[in-house]
Amino acid sequence: MELKNKVAVVTGVSKGIGESLCRQLLAEGCTVFGLGRNNFDCQDANYHFIPTDVRSVNEVDNAFKVIMEKANGHIHILINNAGLGFFGNVEELPLDEWDQMWQTNVNGMFYCTRLAVPVMKQQQYGHIINIASTAGLEGMPMVSGYCATKWAVKGFSESIWRELRDFKIKVTCVYPGSVKTDFFRNSPNIKPHDYMLMPEDVAGMMLYALKTPDNFHQVNLEVRPLQPKGPKTS
Ligand SMILES: NC(=O)c1ccc[n+]([C@@H]2O[C@H](COP(=O)([O-])OP(=O)(O)OC[C@H]3O[C@@H](n4cnc5c(N)ncnc54)[C@H](OP(=O)(O)O)[C@@H]3O)[C@@H](O)[C@H]2O)c1
Repeated sequence: MELKNKVAVVTGVSKGIGESLCRQLLAEGCTVFGLGRNNFDCQDANYHFIPTDVRSVNEVDNAFKVIMEKANGHIHILINNAGLGFFGNVEELPLDEWDQMWQTNVNGMFYCTRLAVPVMKQQQYGHIINIASTAGLEGMPMVSGYCATKWAVKGFSESIWRELRDFKIKVTCVYPGSVKTDFFRNSPNIKPHDYMLMPEDVAGMMLYALKTPDNFHQVNLEVRPLQPKGPKTS
């Protein structure tokens, strides 16, 4: 897809992968609608921030109404990026943290996707990217709740790419390993470091996927750091 003048919706834009995605999409000439609780610093005239907590179906519905008005009824790209993780032994995981992860990582993705799909079907054109995680491919001790939500992202994506491909809508599910962002603020053991993936590189991979020819559909993108714990000394 040629990205110039395309309309992109990105959720979770205040920092990390979402901020990098917005900056790169804007550099390609997209009109970008950022949906989030907080914004990043951006003066680009093609950027529109719509305050949205993706856990709220009403806020998402209202955001999409604004987008449809401002973008003349078009949405070419949806990137379901907003997400968060809490960690700990299963018997100690607070209910509120479990709920926050499901509402953000899974419900938020569904609330946005269900509104973008009719527009994309009408256009016979579109690309949805869901950001899962390698936690959506394998189980991990003390990560049960987050892993469960990202397996749900995988199941959702695996279903809808088959449902939407004949309408010329691509669905790509992205599975990054550790990325150096604020994501680990709730982790007792892991702190961001320079051997993790960089958010701008993960965003760049998605830009590449968005730019592929119409008949070239990358369904799953798994990406991991090469030396996650630093160079081997022996
Ligand atoms: N970092 C990693 O190692 C890693 C690996 C694999 C996958 N991922 C996934 O990548 C995505 C981006 O994470 P990141 O690493 O960039 O983490 P991050 O720096 O913590 O950014 C997460 C973004 O999501 C937003 N967000 C959270 N809850 C939200 C809500 N209810 N409504 C709207 N926006 C919300 C945050 O905004 P505010 O909190 O400011 O509202 C923030 O902009 C997530 O889905 C995460 O699960 C991350």
